[in-house]
Amino acid sequence: MARSCSLKSLLTVFVFTIFAVGSVESIQCIAHQCTNETCPENPDVCTATKGCFNHIQKFDTPSTDTDQMFKHKGCFEENDACKELEFSATLGAQRRFTYVNRCCTNDTCNQDDITLSPPPAEANGVQCLSYYTEPGMLNIPTLLNCTGNETKCGLVIGTAVGSSNLFPLVMAGMGCATESACNLSVTVFNNTNIHTFCSDEFIVSPTKPSVPDSTGSAGNMGFQPTAISTVPILITLLLLKVLF
Ligand SMILES: *[C@@H]1O[C@H](CO)[C@@H](O)[C@H](O)[C@H]1NC(C)=O
Ligand SMILES: *[C@@H]1O[C@H](CO)[C@@H](O)[C@H](O)[C@H]1NC(C)=O
Ligand SMILES: *[C@@H]1O[C@H](CO)[C@@H](O)[C@H](O)[C@H]1NC(C)=O
Ligand SMILES: *[C@@H]1O[C@H](CO)[C@@H](O)[C@H](O)[C@H]1NC(C)=O
Ligand SMILES: *[C@@H]1O[C@H](CO)[C@@H](O)[C@H](O)[C@H]1NC(C)=O
Ligand SMILES: *[C@@H]1O[C@H](CO)[C@@H](O)[C@H](O)[C@H]1NC(C)=O
Repeated sequence: MARSCSLKSLLTVFVFTIFAVGSVESIQCIAHQCTNETCPENPDVCTATKGCFNHIQKFDTPSTDTDQMFKHKGCFEENDACKELEFSATLGAQRRFTYVNRCCTNDTCNQDDITLSPPPAEANGVQCLSYYTEPGMLNIPTLLNCTGNETKCGLVIGTAVGSSNLFPLVMAGMGCATESACNLSVTVFNNTNIHTFCSDEFIVSPTKPSVPDSTGSAGNMGFQPTAISTVPILITLLLLKVLF
C-alpha cells in the first residue's frame, strides 16, 4: 500500500516536472511604450512565457496640438492577462477615440505597428446626440450622423487615475460608438479611467430605409430640445454611479 503510494507520488512528480519544463518554453516580444507616432528606433525585447501584446490608442481632435497617441508593446505571462479589444467612438466637438489591443503567441509577433483605418465616411442611418467637454470647456450637444460600424449611441466619462478629488472628471462625451465600446471600464493614455454606457434612448432618429414616410415628417424629426437638457444630467448620473 505504502509502496504504491510512493510510486504514485513519484509518477506525479515526474509528470509534473515534464509539464513544468515543457511550459517554460518562452518567446521573445517587442517591448516599448511611446506617446507619439514614432516609437524608439531600437525597441527593447522581453521574454514571455505566454505571448505578446500590441496596443494602440488614438485620440483625434480638431488640432494636432491636442491629438493624443499611445502605443504599447510587451509580454504577458498569464493566459488571461491579455484581452483582445477593439473599439472606436466619435464624440461631439470633432473628438474621435480609437482603441485596439491584440494578443499573439509567436516570436516577435507584435513587431508590426497596428494600422488604424480612417473613419468610414458612409452614414449608417443612426443619429446620436453628440457632446464633448473637459473641465473649463463649454459645448452644446449637436446631432451626429453615425458612420460605418459605429452603430450605437453612447456616453463616456473619463476620470483621473489615482486622483483624490471628489469629482476627478477629465472629460465627458456622447456620440456614436461601435458595439464593442459599450459598457467598458478601461484605462487610456496611462492616466484616465474611462467608463462607457450605451443606450437606445440616446438614438435620436434611426432612419427607416426604403419605408415611405407615411407617419408624416414630424415623426422622423425625433430631435427634442429636451434631449439636449438631459445630457448634463446623464453625465452626472454616470459619474455618481462610477464613483460611489
Ligand atoms: C516620441 O516619443 C519617444 C518616446 O516616448 C521620444 O523619445 C521621442 O522624442 C518622441 N518624438 C517626438 C517627435 O516627439
Ligand atoms: C470597424 O470597421 C473598421 C473598417 O472600417 C475596422 O477597421 C474596425 O476593425 C471595425 N471595428 C470594430 C470594433 O469592429
Ligand atoms: C505561429 O507559430 C506557429 C507554430 O510555430 C505557426 O504554425 C503559425 O503559422 C505561426 N503564426 C504566425 C501568424 O506566424
Ligand atoms: C445627417 O443625415 C441627414 C440625412 O440622413 C442629412 O439630412 C443631414 O444633413 C446630415 N447631417 C450632417 C451634419 O451631415
Ligand atoms: C456591463 O459589464 C459588467 C461587468 O463588466 C456586467 O456586470 C454588466 O452586466 C454589464 N452591463 C450590461 C448592460 O451589459
Ligand atoms: C505609464 O505609467 C507607468 C506606471 O505608472 C510608467 O512606468 C510609464 O512610464 C507610463 N508611460 C507613459 C508613456 O507615460
